[in-house]
Amino acid sequence: MKRIVSGIKPSGTLTLGNYIGAIKRFVELQRSMPDDEFYLFVADLHAITVPQEASLLRQRTKEVAAMYLAAGLDPLRTILFIQSEVKEHAELGYLLQCSTYIGELERMTQFKDKSKKQEAGLSTALFTYPVLMAADIILYDADYVPVGDDQKQHLELTRDIATRFNNRYGDFFVVPEPLIPETGARIMDLQDPEKKMSKSDESDKGYISLFDPLDVIRKKIKSAVTDSIGIVQYDPSSQSGVANLMNIYSVLTDLSFAQIEEKYKGLGYAMFKSDLAELVASEIGALQNRYQHIIQSGELDQILDSGRDIASRVAYKKLEKCKQKIGLGRKRK
Ligand code: TYM
Repeated sequence: MKRIVSGIKPSGTLTLGNYIGAIKRFVELQRSMPDDEFYLFVADLHAITVPQEASLLRQRTKEVAAMYLAAGLDPLRTILFIQSEVKEHAELGYLLQCSTYIGELERMTQFKDKSKKQEAGLSTALFTYPVLMAADIILYDADYVPVGDDQKQHLELTRDIATRFNNRYGDFFVVPEPLIPETGARIMDLQDPEKKMSKSDESDKGYISLFDPLDVIRKKIKSAVTDSIGIVQYDPSSQSGVANLMNIYSVLTDLSFAQIEEKYKGLGYAMFKSDLAELVASEIGALQNRYQHIIQSGELDQILDSGRDIASRVAYKKLEKCKQKIGLGRKRK
C-alpha cells in the first residue's frame, strides 16, 4: 500500500489553478489508486508565513477542507485534517531545520520571488517554509506527493533533506516522489500568460476563483488574452495565451491538443473561448453546488476531527522515533 500526501494553503481564494493542478488530480488519483492511502490537509501553518486576518484565515481553512470533499474526495478513504491541529508538523519542521543549509533555502525560487516583491518585513518562517513542507510530507512516510509545477523545487529539497537524515541516522524516512501532471501542472494568468495563475494576484481578471459567480467566470475566460494569429493550435512559445486555454480545455474534456486543434480548425478564437467558458462554468458550478451541500450538512467537523485523530497517531509515533534517532530526551526502554 502506498501513501499519498499533499496540502493546500488557505491564503487567498482557491483558484482554477489549484483545482486543476491539485484538487481535481487528487480525486483522479484516488480513483486510479483504490488500495492506497490519502493524507490531505489544509496547510494553515504555511498561510501565516505572511500576515493573515484571524477570522478570515479560519473561514478559508474550512473552505479549503470543504472544497476537497466537494471535488469528490471520498471521506472514508481520505485522512483529511488541518495542519495546525497535528502539532508534530511544527516540531518535525524544527528538527529538520537543524539539518537544512541556509544556502539551500536561499536557492528556492518561490522565496526569491516573494522577497523581490517585498524587501522589508519578511518573516523568518517564509524563509524556512520549505522545511516545514518537507516535514509535512516525510512525517507520514509519503510515497507520492501530487503537486503543481511550482512546488517541484520544494519537493526536490524534501528529497534531499530526507536522504541526508537517512545517511546520518540510518534509513528512517521514505524519500517521496513528486507526482506532477503532464497537462495542467501550471495554469497561467488569463491576462498575463507568462505568469502563473495565483490567488494572491493584484488583478482579479487574471485568475478564476472557485467561488466566482458563473457569469463572472464566463466573462473572464472570454476576455482572456490571446494573440492576433487567430488559429487554435498548441504553441506555448508564440501563443502562450491560447496554449494556456488549451491546457484547461484538455484537462476538463480529456481531449488531446491535437483533437482540440482539429475540433476548432478554421473556427477562430471566439467559438473556442465560448465553449471553454461553458465547460469551466459547468465544472465550477457543480463544484459550488456540492460545496454548499457539504457546508450545510455539518459533516465537515466530524470528518476533520477524525482526520486529525488518525493523522496525530501516525505523526506522534514517527516523531517519537525520530527524536530517539537524534538522541533527544531520555532513551526509551
Ligand atoms: P498552494 O496552496 O500555493 O497551492 C496548492 C496546490 O495547487 C497547485 N497550484 C497550481 N497548479 C497549477 N497551476 C497553478 N496556477 C497553480 N497554483 C497552485 C500547487 O502546485 C499546489 O499543488 N507549499 C504548498 C502547500 C503545501 C504542501 C505541503 C503541498 C504545504 N505542505 C506538503 C504538498 C505537500 C503551497 O503553497 O501550495
